[in-house]
Amino acid sequence: MTERLEDIAQAMVAPGKGILAADESTGTIKKRFDSINADCTEANRRDYREMLFRCNDAMESCISGVILYDETVRQKSDDGVTLVDIIKSAGAIPGIKVDTGAKDLAGAPGEKITEGLDGLRERLNEYHGLGARFAKWRAVIDIAEGIPSDYCLRANAHALARYAALCQEAGIVPIVEPEVLMDGGHDIDRCMAVTEAALNTLFDELYLHRVVLEQTVLKPNMVISGKKCATRAGVDEVAEKTVRTLKRCVPAAIPGIAFLSGGQSDEEATAHLSAMNAGYDLPWNLTFSYGRALQAAPLQAWCGNASNVTAAQTAFCHRARMNSLATKGEWSADLEQSAA
Ligand code: 13P
Repeated sequence: MTERLEDIAQAMVAPGKGILAADESTGTIKKRFDSINADCTEANRRDYREMLFRCNDAMESCISGVILYDETVRQKSDDGVTLVDIIKSAGAIPGIKVDTGAKDLAGAPGEKITEGLDGLRERLNEYHGLGARFAKWRAVIDIAEGIPSDYCLRANAHALARYAALCQEAGIVPIVEPEVLMDGGHDIDRCMAVTEAALNTLFDELYLHRVVLEQTVLKPNMVISGKKCATRAGVDEVAEKTVRTLKRCVPAAIPGIAFLSGGQSDEEATAHLSAMNAGYDLPWNLTFSYGRALQAAPLQAWCGNASNVTAAQTAFCHRARMNSLATKGEWSADLEQSAA
């Protein structure tokens, strides 16, 4: 059976479904485990993620794919099944984070460049052999006085495009993620201007690098006020400005856009997604690729304790279902209340 990248990309963003970002590096998952006083051992990391991947209700009906970390893509459960096979048996697609993190950008104080291109062709071939059919690369763009520079936007877009071209060569759908951070006190219009510049630069580089858009999924930030902004925009404004920016910059050939949550609360991330899908006529499917906004509730419920697995799975199923409804514009706040 030949696997077409277009079909994989379409499946990743199918209505009613979205992506579980479970690709925290060991350093990042340690921070999450510290917050619940759980030990960050390899076994605990595996047990936690296996617990999510074995939530059959959520995985079969709400999750199209899971982004894994290098450690996880190689792990097996106690009964000898790989976590990749657990995901596949639920009908979801395994994916892999392949960047090696954001480092200081030379000559640009306060700005970052994402690394990981050296040896990437060989690593992608190995991940394909391990079952991964899509990948993720995240660029980090911070907003502060005088930044981001065009240099930072261009360097990061160039790296994203080189990564995406290598993915398609290896039979892997690239998720391209230019994340404009919501840290800081900037207002929504500043976020809109920076997001527009970042996306325009990205699609320019994707074109130069001969990346096939029909085989690519975009993972952007929403256009949103900075966390410390004194007057934060409400749901309708976030939805309107996000859609307006995406329509300006993202070709209709892209099958789908899967947002990151980026530090929004669980409910905010769901409400924003639902408002966009309910209120606008769109050329692409809009869905979620959330890390924190899908995992915060199950992580709290679990607390590193095996006796809490059922409660944690219930919390995960609930968030997944709320976001699944949001992909169809069918979420409302009372659905949260009735489940609580
Ligand atoms: P958040 O949804 O927690 O922002 O994570 C998504 C992700 O994969 C960031 O790279």
